[in-house]
Amino acid sequence: ASSDGAVPVGTAFTAVAPNTEDAVVVPDGYEHAVVIRWGDAVLPGAPAFDFGNQSPQAQGMQFGFNNDFAGLLPVSGTPHTYLLVVNHEYTTEPFMFAGYDPENPTLEQFQTAVAAHGMSVVQVKGAAGSGALTPEFGPSNRRITANSEFLVTGPAAGSEFLVTSADPTGTRVVGTLNNCSGGVTPWGTVLSGEENFNQYFANAELVTDPTVAARLKRYGVAGGASERKWERFDSRFDLAKEPNEVNRFGYVVEVDPWDPTSTPIKHTAMGRFKHEAATIHVTDDGTVVAYSGDDERFDYMYKFVSARKMMQGNGQASMRHNLTLLDAGTLYVAQLSGDEPATVDGSGTLPAGGRFAGTGKWIPLLRTNVDGRAESLVPGMSAAEVAVFTRQAGDKVGATKMDRPEDFEPNPKTGKVYVALTNNSKRGTEGQAAADAPNPRNNNKNGQVLELEDDHSGVSFTWNLLLVCGDPAAADTYFGGFDKSQVSPISCPDNLAFDPYGNLWISTDGNALKSNDGLFSVVLDGDRRGETKQFLTVPKGGETCGPIVDESRVVVCVQHPGELDGASADAPASHWPDGGDSQPRPSVVAVWKSGGGRIGT
Ligand code: FEO
Ligand code: CA
Ligand code: CA
Ligand code: CA
Repeated sequence: ASSDGAVPVGTAFTAVAPNTEDAVVVPDGYEHAVVIRWGDAVLPGAPAFDFGNQSPQAQGMQFGFNNDFAGLLPVSGTPHTYLLVVNHEYTTEPFMFAGYDPENPTLEQFQTAVAAHGMSVVQVKGAAGSGALTPEFGPSNRRITANSEFLVTGPAAGSEFLVTSADPTGTRVVGTLNNCSGGVTPWGTVLSGEENFNQYFANAELVTDPTVAARLKRYGVAGGASERKWERFDSRFDLAKEPNEVNRFGYVVEVDPWDPTSTPIKHTAMGRFKHEAATIHVTDDGTVVAYSGDDERFDYMYKFVSARKMMQGNGQASMRHNLTLLDAGTLYVAQLSGDEPATVDGSGTLPAGGRFAGTGKWIPLLRTNVDGRAESLVPGMSAAEVAVFTRQAGDKVGATKMDRPEDFEPNPKTGKVYVALTNNSKRGTEGQAAADAPNPRNNNKNGQVLELEDDHSGVSFTWNLLLVCGDPAAADTYFGGFDKSQVSPISCPDNLAFDPYGNLWISTDGNALKSNDGLFSVVLDGDRRGETKQFLTVPKGGETCGPIVDESRVVVCVQHPGELDGASADAPASHWPDGGDSQPRPSVVAVWKSGGGRIGT
């Protein structure tokens, strides 16, 4: 394709050049400001953030660490007012506490880290002519932490795999962990993916039952002490004492952010794996389809198709009904095939037809009926086993091993579905799967973006690669057929979002091209399909997360700024956002056009 056609609305801005600055860099003619930082008040009475004087009590009322997903939900009837809902994925204690000793964390550090996990709900206020957002103490403000109570629903609820000494019912879990990305549902709740929960649990090597040990291994639960040593303070993190606690994490969590007294839900009918997120498409008949990737090298892509239909309206009856949508339905895993003949040799070279493409099918794993009865569709596994050990179910049916599926999102304008496959350094190494059509490069450092045309509630799809990421000057990259001399370099796609015009926006994590991570727009249709432009970059050492691209505002989360080799709170590599000799703080940032106006026009 050429670049003769008009620049699509939403993508008309001057691309930001790759850089390694300790700053958020936005296009000429745009402004930005921090919305909220780690340690800022969420609840009334929260003390002012004091880096050298933190406490679990203060952190439980303040914005948590390492913001990842962000959702912005308009408060109806109150102009320019929103609920900002944010995930706090994980803690990095050496960056949180001066003089932190990783071999000897203190009780107070443990409790502070527990309170820095989870989610925040914060009311924010905008102003006409600006995209800036200011936090307020609204009636919905809430902190959810690794100590908050959750209700388990679906086929695993009450099963033998979820019973612990503290919870013989197997239905009430304390906390959520490693909430990475997520999605806002059309019924006004927020979904959040529990991702790398394996890292919180210690002493897997002391588990002697070979079946249990195999399950732990499949989920990456390592032996010995955990990195944070939480097992020293709370025995539920010690597998030798509580072998089932780990089975209570790895789910899609649903929060009703409008009711701060509501108990968040863990939906086990959607399976247990390292859920990056979950995002929704609603079909014409009201069936809800939730897409979710398992972010691990060589792991799978899933979807869940609801048995119930979504109820319209925003009353309490609708909310009660819609909170059950993800508890009854069918869970599928994806199997992809390449176009004939085999199109790749592991180098990522574009095959002879001009595009990377193929077909796929959804293999059913688990059906949960509206009466709560569930049936396994995988020979040799019970329904509860499929719900809790979903990866092994995917293994048995021959699901396709992908290059780390991160965000997996339907385009609200077109219904096409996109998956960020972030990278896979192990692809093609000894004993591991080699490159195939949808994962066309061995030792894949830069990742790719998959586009699906899915029969949403059905079992078949076609696919093609929109982007094969990396340096556009390299032969192994592909930008939807667009002229590669006119695109921004992009590496390690992670989070996806769509602007109001149906353009795709991609944020990156781990840029392998030696410059800072950022946010990019990608044109999907017309003769500029594949045109990729960098809209912003985040401070060095940071990851760009949670993008929201509205008509007049872009919101991104800057996760772990300054997290570079050798850096720590005692040797900070970044002083963003506070400047001077301050410690770096994960923060949410809003960007807008100077003087107001539509983004990308
Ligand atoms: Fe937390 Fe898959 O990124
Ligand atoms: Ca991610
Ligand atoms: Ca997203
Ligand atoms: Ca990532």
